[in-house]
Amino acid sequence: RVVVLDFGGQYNQLIARRVRECNVYCEVKPCTTPLSELQAMHPIGFIFTGGPSSVYEPDSPQVAPAIFSLGIPILGICYGCQLMAHHLGGKVSPATDATAREYGRTETFFDTTSPLFKNLPAQSVTWMSHGDYMERVPDGFSLTAHSDACPNVAIADESRGFYGVQYHPEVNHTEYGVKMIRNFLYEVCGAHGQWTMGDYCKSAIAQVRNQVGGGRVLLALSGGVDSSVAAALLAEAVGRQLTCVFVDHGLMRKDEGDEVEAAFSKWDLNFVRVDAEERFLSRLSGVTEPERKRKIIGEEFIRVFEEEAKKIGAVEFLAQGTIYPDVIESGLGASATIKSHHNVGGLPDYVDFKEIVEPLRMLFKDEVRQLGRELGLPEYLVSRQPFPGPGLSVRVIGEITREKLDILREADFIFRDELHKAGADASLSQYFAVLTSMRSVGVMGDGRTYDYTLALRAVNTSDFMTADWARIPYDVLDRVSVRIVNEVRSINRIVYDITSKPPATIEWE
Ligand code: XMP
Repeated sequence: RVVVLDFGGQYNQLIARRVRECNVYCEVKPCTTPLSELQAMHPIGFIFTGGPSSVYEPDSPQVAPAIFSLGIPILGICYGCQLMAHHLGGKVSPATDATAREYGRTETFFDTTSPLFKNLPAQSVTWMSHGDYMERVPDGFSLTAHSDACPNVAIADESRGFYGVQYHPEVNHTEYGVKMIRNFLYEVCGAHGQWTMGDYCKSAIAQVRNQVGGGRVLLALSGGVDSSVAAALLAEAVGRQLTCVFVDHGLMRKDEGDEVEAAFSKWDLNFVRVDAEERFLSRLSGVTEPERKRKIIGEEFIRVFEEEAKKIGAVEFLAQGTIYPDVIESGLGASATIKSHHNVGGLPDYVDFKEIVEPLRMLFKDEVRQLGRELGLPEYLVSRQPFPGPGLSVRVIGEITREKLDILREADFIFRDELHKAGADASLSQYFAVLTSMRSVGVMGDGRTYDYTLALRAVNTSDFMTADWARIPYDVLDRVSVRIVNEVRSINRIVYDITSKPPATIEWE
């Protein structure tokens, strides 16, 4: 494996994903991790990430100097490169305009005899973002790349396997970045590229069997990607020792509950589907305030799950679909709190169990999807767009009724269906319909109507913190509109939401 040592760079996870894309297993560790712990991982190479600090500042994150004497190759990126230079006798200084403070796309010239740039073009674009530069390169290092502004864009000491680059090979803007990372892994570290999802799947199953032994496992299945893949893995590993409790709160999209149940029919496990629609709807009756709706649903969810757990009795293990981005600690160590992820809030307090099983702890989202495919989960579950825990309750504005939910389910289904037929769904981050509870006047046939306005929402985003409204082609929107007003009763007007986040949020409530 390779260890990515994190100095607080914004791209730390991206580096790890790139390494795994090259079929080499890799983990991200904070730079404060003791050297003995790093050694115990038996890495074939280290990658030092970028970071916001300057190496010459007194409190800047450092490494134990002994890391340079382990005989293990190191690739330093940006701050990581400067750190290496700083430790090995070079000098890093603040860049002035004259000495190569560089940001953005930069035409770069490479020495292709260097293993890092083997079989790559001698000139290509890299992505720079650094305010410091290496005034003096350490002894033993040669310069292997330069730009017009900067003589030492990359340095290498081949004899020790130390490589440093000022730019960010992990981002897409660096044209041959992934190939450079691949060269480091294969040409320098001697990786064999054995890390594939098929192998991971087998070893994860073995690991779960090992942890669980003959014990019983309880899992709350929401139907989302993470809990579904965790459930599939556990079902494959321990079969009937697993009980999945799937609380159907009646706020799911069209046919969703049945699809989830069907997806798990191929495994011999205890699958409990709780039909709790009535309970949820009666508790939500007359409630219009968005936060109150969320609270009621969260509480009721726990209550239903708790009742089911009581029927099952004490179990040894509670399984959760925690994934790697929830687990990675901050590189700067100081505020290294590990988020504990719950698909439904606060569950463990209410359930009698001894230990947690988190079989997806080491996987990124795209890897979780891949594992799901490996396990034979259907594509519609594996590649699902995010769906809020409180379900359609946040997409029916104001009071929720069964009737409104049914109208929304039909309309939302048509929207998704038409986007899929047009091949537009794959490029969208999230897309759905919202039933505004506003009514307006329309005309159908010879008659006046007074019906609901439906809103369509589609966004693109990389992190869901900010989002852009999607430019869906007019003809697709037109087909959606015609179909919905014709096929769904009680909707006579359709609008498309053209606000980005901020100032709007993705969901309407
Ligand atoms: P907003 O509306 O805040 O949504 O821009 C950002 C992302 O989070 C999802 N979302 C939720 N997910 N429980 C969830 O599990 C919730 O209560 C919830 N509210 C919003 C939303 O679908 C979007 O992907």
